[in-house]
Amino acid sequence: MIAGAERIVVLTGAGISAESGVPTFRGEDGLWRRYRPEELATPEAFRRDPVLVWQWYAWRRQVVSSCRPNAAHLALAHLALRRSGICLVTQNVDGLHAEAAREAAGVDGDPGPALPVELHGSIFRLRCTGCGCTFEDRSALEIHGVEDLPGCGRCGALLRPDVVWFGEALPMRELSLALQRAAEADACLVVGTSAVVFPAAEVAFRAWSQGARLIEVNLEETPLSARAHVVLRAPAASVVPLIVGAEGLESGALGGPAAENGGA
Ligand code: OAD
Repeated sequence: MIAGAERIVVLTGAGISAESGVPTFRGEDGLWRRYRPEELATPEAFRRDPVLVWQWYAWRRQVVSSCRPNAAHLALAHLALRRSGICLVTQNVDGLHAEAAREAAGVDGDPGPALPVELHGSIFRLRCTGCGCTFEDRSALEIHGVEDLPGCGRCGALLRPDVVWFGEALPMRELSLALQRAAEADACLVVGTSAVVFPAAEVAFRAWSQGARLIEVNLEETPLSARAHVVLRAPAASVVPLIVGAEGLESGALGGPAAENGGA
């Protein structure tokens, strides 16, 4: 399916970064099992207690800083650099797809085609709550009290992580680009997402409803599984390099964990 598709949209979620050491949200050790999203990831929480919210993001930035892209991120980056018509879309805020893109392109290469459409922003980008400017920032933030909160270099207002919080709209340009690529796709590869958070999950549902072949890589069943033409119940870092590097293999040569759903 991947070899035969002219246009492929890839939707990834926290599961693709799990083997890099980044915690997922809803799994057994998921972040939303230990923390309450309404206290940490809403505009109201930030207004109420910016120190607490910033401590949580400073901690997550520190965790992710020690993580490296895994074989799945790298295989997708190589695929997007090797072939035209690939659109990577991610819900992840960890920046690992972009890092894989730079690694795959090498020092002289252009990572552009392998840079993902980031639907939920990035924890390594900050946005001013006053003037709205955004910029990349990977510094280790130590937040003990209000005096440590980061301020805008231009207008002095409080900075926030440039991520989408519960109750906030997704960035319009990114969302419409992702949905457009989904509608045009012949194949949709969905990796490591519970597919329950909308409108991000709509990318996969849209591709499927417009006739794309749907391939799911996930350890567990999701609302997409019943629609998928192929379900691979295997860890992303093992299986993604196999399937995206498998162009040219005769059909059926992969065998292994593939389970044909027969089309829905
Ligand atoms: P979830 O934590 O909801 O789901 C992770 C999915 O990855 C689950 O379906 C797991 O079964 C699967 N998984 C875990 N490890 C895997 C592995 N090694 N290989 C393959 N699959 C694996 O994460 P998301 O679906 O990304 O929103 O969550 C969506 C959004 O909810 C996030 O972007 C975040 C969160 O609230 C915002 O930050 C706005």
